[in-house]
Amino acid sequence: MAERAAPVGVMDSGVGGLSVLAEIQRLLPNETLLYVADCGHIPYGEKSPDYIRERLRRIAAFFHEQGAKAMVLACNTATVAAAADLRELYPSWPLVGMEPAVKPAAAATRSGVVGVLATTGTLQSAKFAALLDRFANDVQVITRPCPGLVELIEAGDLGSPALRQLLLGYVQPLLAAGCDTLILGCTHYPFLRPLLADMMPADVAIIDTGAAVARQLQRLLGAHDLLADGPAADTRFWTSGDPQLMRKILPLLWHKSDSVQSFSL
Ligand code: DGL
Repeated sequence: MAERAAPVGVMDSGVGGLSVLAEIQRLLPNETLLYVADCGHIPYGEKSPDYIRERLRRIAAFFHEQGAKAMVLACNTATVAAAADLRELYPSWPLVGMEPAVKPAAAATRSGVVGVLATTGTLQSAKFAALLDRFANDVQVITRPCPGLVELIEAGDLGSPALRQLLLGYVQPLLAAGCDTLILGCTHYPFLRPLLADMMPADVAIIDTGAAVARQLQRLLGAHDLLADGPAADTRFWTSGDPQLMRKILPLLWHKSDSVQSFSL
């Protein structure tokens, strides 16, 4: 039986999940958080579901060894590929996944046109198709995979001319089609919000699900009587890529620099 003071494991294919981690820390400052960035295997968006499931099994086992009381998949691509598998493997372990915010976007749009930026893996999944079927019957949804963005963000690029050009190429057709609500369906993309706000009319709403994931974690921990009640806790970082590179990028995407350990499974 896990204890309230046990940590919560949070993972992403890379540094994108830090956008979710920040929301979790804001809402639940007493929770000890373990963050695994699977940078050695990025991008998940271009990998097969089988490959991603295998990676997630290893990461989940690692969190288990660390005594984690819950796990958060701070990655849309990992969720569509592996959440069901992990729930089957660990039926009594609180697990939070994430999906593009189709439901709130469909409710919010006034033009009736919603854009979705996400990885190829997310957009091609049966889970995403089911999400559209369920919530987007009355609106037009235009999806746009964004190869290349994740790699640039992983390199610490949040605004070079090359990145701006790439992003503009993805966003312009959506705007031309009348999109007034843009879903960020990949946890890396919230780091491009300032750039997006700059290149789109002010009345286009940008929606991501980081805060909703934090609230879902809070609900789930509460339901299991597992909310930490101790003093403010710390966060520990691992990467399967180059720890030095992540240490360098961390201050750009996280509110402070921190030590990063190697995760070599
Ligand atoms: N951050 C991940 C997501 O939310 C995917 C990035 C990748 O392609 O590895 O989908």
